[in-house]
Amino acid sequence: MFDPLALLHLVSIQQGDATYTSKYLDSDTYKANLAANRIVVGGFGTAPFPDPCRTLFDSITSWFTPPPKIMDNCLVNVLQATDQMVVMTETDEVRVVDPETLDTLGEKQTISNFVAIRQATAHPHVDSDGTVYNLASSGSRDGSTYNIISLPNGRIEQAKMEASILARWRFHPGYMHSYAITEHYFILLETPFTFSVGALLAGQYFGRSFEEAMVWYPNEKVHFRVIDRQTGLEHPTTFTSEAFFTFHHINAYETDDDMLVIDVSTIESGEIVKSLYYSNLNKSDSDPTKLKFDSVATRFILPLGDVSEMPLESELLGDVPNARLEKQVGNSASARKVKDDTIHLQGLTLNPIFFEMPRINYAYNGKPYRYAYAASSKGKSLDLTMLIKLDVKTGEKKIWEDPTHIVSEPVFVASPESKSSGVEDDGVVLTLLLHKTNPHTVALLVLDAKDFNQIAKVEFETQGTVTPTFHGQFVSSFDQVHGY
Ligand SMILES: [Fe+2]
Repeated sequence: MFDPLALLHLVSIQQGDATYTSKYLDSDTYKANLAANRIVVGGFGTAPFPDPCRTLFDSITSWFTPPPKIMDNCLVNVLQATDQMVVMTETDEVRVVDPETLDTLGEKQTISNFVAIRQATAHPHVDSDGTVYNLASSGSRDGSTYNIISLPNGRIEQAKMEASILARWRFHPGYMHSYAITEHYFILLETPFTFSVGALLAGQYFGRSFEEAMVWYPNEKVHFRVIDRQTGLEHPTTFTSEAFFTFHHINAYETDDDMLVIDVSTIESGEIVKSLYYSNLNKSDSDPTKLKFDSVATRFILPLGDVSEMPLESELLGDVPNARLEKQVGNSASARKVKDDTIHLQGLTLNPIFFEMPRINYAYNGKPYRYAYAASSKGKSLDLTMLIKLDVKTGEKKIWEDPTHIVSEPVFVASPESKSSGVEDDGVVLTLLLHKTNPHTVALLVLDAKDFNQIAKVEFETQGTVTPTFHGQFVSSFDQVHGY
């Protein structure tokens, strides 16, 4: 799923009308694969074929040198940063596109030319002043590091290192798809789903995919790495939990009683990535060999204060307001002191329903909030026919559903009055609907974010095939800073 050539989708809304456009990203990956008429630039789960366009000499030396680096199939996310629309994947190469025509502009931009990183995520955060922060990683003989970089107004050429911490296992860094940011902290979830650096390097020579270099350690812990934004230093307490994997953070915030609340879509096992091969997705849901995908909204609470005086095995949460759902008893997030400097966390399931591609009202990013939106499915599958609105205070949900269509990520757009009204769900939720059997139609769905009722649906007939999307952004021409 992470490897098809990037297709950009644009819905332009103006004076009550909407138009839909799509265009392939004119990347070096696209050009090389088309020129060779096969996949010569591989991806996350796709090993490349030998390139017939390379000369015999190239082919022989290619046994001894890695193929030329092309990693600009930017199919994961977009970011309008001041006057530039940047498209991203999980490498250090990004492309700039024209947000009105979707034309690819100029050459690819390589982040590592400006700051010492190897790759960055496709889930940056945007501060209210327009500074873009992203989670990156790099490596040296000393081991792998996780880095936070900042890009003033999103300018890659001004990229700066904000923080750098070592991975707990030198040559097995955790795979991280997103991260969280609050007023004072960056939060990284180092799960036991790791890249084997040795297998990655060998894979360059033997034509293997990234996925083949990944290792899941089900008996190892998750480490919650909390970094002070001011100092770049890691919090002195070690925070752990039993193993899980996650693609997407929902939100995180600090509380008045010195707690850090972290909400994420948790997945039981890192083996889940194997379910995302088309060979698996194309199997019927009744096929017992089909690998399932399940993801639920889970809350963790980290006590940030000094824990040195607390007795071992004591529970530090008790009746913290955010650790329990309103009107529900028996179930709560917990934090237990298990060693002098180690707190072991137990998550609280906010609602057992499938919860992926989460979004919020981004004005509440890093702050106390109440509502999260996500794509959902009935079984443990990617048959995403539902959108969910989740009240993270009560655990209650609202559902919009259409069994004939697949939904995309729900994008919350605040109403122009929402800032003055202070009502978090005053706005709409947008999504693209793909028809399950007709790939030549697509629809823009507009839901009222308060009651989740449909306000509008605009259907488009297309010449080309419409494909599923990962992430998107609403960009208003009235805004200076564009968050998510
Ligand atoms: Fe993502």
